[in-house]
Amino acid sequence: MTAVYERLQNCYESIREKISIQPKIGLVLGSGLGDYAESIQIVSTLDYNQIDGFPVSTVSGHKGRFVFGYVDTVPVVIMQGRVHYYEGYSMEDVVLPIRLMKLMGTEILFLTNAAGGVNYNFHAGDFMMITDQIASFVPSPLIGPNISQLGERFPDMSHIYDPELCQLLRQISHDLKIPLQEGTYIQLTGPNFESPHEIRMCRIIGGDAVGMSTACEALAANHMGMRICGISCISNMASGMTEQPLTHSEVKETADQVAPRFKKLITEAIVRMGKE
Ligand code: HPA
Repeated sequence: MTAVYERLQNCYESIREKISIQPKIGLVLGSGLGDYAESIQIVSTLDYNQIDGFPVSTVSGHKGRFVFGYVDTVPVVIMQGRVHYYEGYSMEDVVLPIRLMKLMGTEILFLTNAAGGVNYNFHAGDFMMITDQIASFVPSPLIGPNISQLGERFPDMSHIYDPELCQLLRQISHDLKIPLQEGTYIQLTGPNFESPHEIRMCRIIGGDAVGMSTACEALAANHMGMRICGISCISNMASGMTEQPLTHSEVKETADQVAPRFKKLITEAIVRMGKE
């Protein structure tokens, strides 16, 4: 057994009795989007700082806890706050919560984030369904001895974001009349926002949105065979695309503004994915 897997198992065993339901869907809430967790039928919560050996997020606007409960009749576990690489954690730490959700029985991983718009057709406040990603600027969370209990050494990444779930999201966007852009998410390390030329580079290599999370989580989840979908909230246009300097408060403000639409979209998606 690898050291990483042993640690994961220990972490799981330490919280096993506190997991009140068996979640089907795991939802990760991005910057400013965390309030969604309070709108579901909560069964129990588990603060990250109560979990032995668990990385604890330090970013303002990110609460740190698992919320267990139901969206309609669908059992879910929600990560209200995630852990970021830029906080100084190893990639192993960053994806530990994702791996833990898989051990809890989660089949579908629903990733959300706040991201900078790189595509000139986007506007602050848009939602973008993630159809693919570029994770090459951060270390792979799969580096190190392969955890064979979780997945294979050289996992295929041709369809990280499940095409059927993407199709479902398109249908929901149409039915609810909530526009959904589509594109490729690029993860950079942060914590600094990018320079204008870094954003130009992102556009040239095919990125549509840029952020500091998500892609590494999707990598680890795909390794474990989870079905994945993701939505970015375009909280701002990225560096060099407007005159305005970028701030974390702007990111949170936009997320607040789109929260009602976000809630509708996510709720409907979970309800329909629960039937998958
Ligand atoms: N860049 C990187 N990450 C982000 C941004 C951005 O412009 N906005 C929200 N997260």
